[in-house]
Amino acid sequence: MEEKRLRAIEWMDGSVKFIDQTELPNKLDYVETTDYRVLIEAIKMLRVRGAPLIGITAAYAVVTAVREAIDTKVSDPLNWTMKAIREIGASRPTARNLFFALERMKEAVESKGAGEMEKLFDIVLSIAQDIEKEDEEMCLKMGEHGSSLIEDGFGIITHCNTGMLVTAGQGTALGVVYHASRQNKKLHVYADETRPLLQGARLTTWECKNYGIHVTLICDNAAATVVRQGKVNCAIVGADRIASNGDTANKIGTYNLALICKAHNVPFYVAAPYSTFDFSLKSGDEIPIEERKPEEIVKINKGWIAPEGIDAYNPAFDVTPAELISAIITEEGVFKPPYGEWKEMDAK
Ligand code: MRU
Repeated sequence: MEEKRLRAIEWMDGSVKFIDQTELPNKLDYVETTDYRVLIEAIKMLRVRGAPLIGITAAYAVVTAVREAIDTKVSDPLNWTMKAIREIGASRPTARNLFFALERMKEAVESKGAGEMEKLFDIVLSIAQDIEKEDEEMCLKMGEHGSSLIEDGFGIITHCNTGMLVTAGQGTALGVVYHASRQNKKLHVYADETRPLLQGARLTTWECKNYGIHVTLICDNAAATVVRQGKVNCAIVGADRIASNGDTANKIGTYNLALICKAHNVPFYVAAPYSTFDFSLKSGDEIPIEERKPEEIVKINKGWIAPEGIDAYNPAFDVTPAELISAIITEEGVFKPPYGEWKEMDAK
């Protein structure tokens, strides 16, 4: 694993370096910045994406904001930093990890006086590095727990991209696949292309190919056929937010896949760390779902694929009801329904 390790984001000598995922698979391009506004733009445009990575990026965005407040000698540095945190929080609404990271940052800012900005900088940097490290460790544990569900010879269907590009480690759902493959289980991944932004086609196949996993790309609307043909033994997806009752928000199309799996009696697994859980929400109905611009679905490579001006609806996520989820893989273990014991994980 080590030699194939990919770092989607890194803190390097006072700046943040990240892979611009919109350029993949054509170019592996890195961006370096010390400007939190560039990081906000990167989150909004999905240059950095996936729930855990959005959280880590948000944390480093706060670090760069605190540095800027110090270096430009703003008149009210704490209020200025809080305003920057609010701007970062407005970048994308669904991934719980973003708010999980910002809540930790806010607490640190609130604990300091205006004369303690250098101290605050050290604190927010160490929180961001902790979030990154914790994420890497959680991925490994999810991999360990999740791979107990995977047998040699399994076909596995995935949706969106959930690997090294979206975490500080090996990934959530794809992390489980990587872990099982290191146990010498021969696996075959069927990657949903994931319209409209093609995270499955552009990123999951790229990651799997680099990692030596047998991967086959399918159109989203081929999933039912592939499952019906008996090519897959389970589905594993990630999550952007999980409510107390286990309802799970993930990339649009995940719900379709869960329904397909249910209809064909194929286990449907979700893999996510505790930073994705939102126990303040009773059910998935309360999860804020991001709606993105119609341009993402009416154009491909800037060319129209629908009549100009046509009405289009583009929700970026959907909610899979808990009853369709066979198990949720976390760093604490594999949880099976009924999903009642979350509270213990929350107290961690
Ligand atoms: O819009 P994206 O690409 O950020 O959506 C990402 C997903 O939906 C992932 O499946 C989810 O974040 C879980 S991956 C760790």
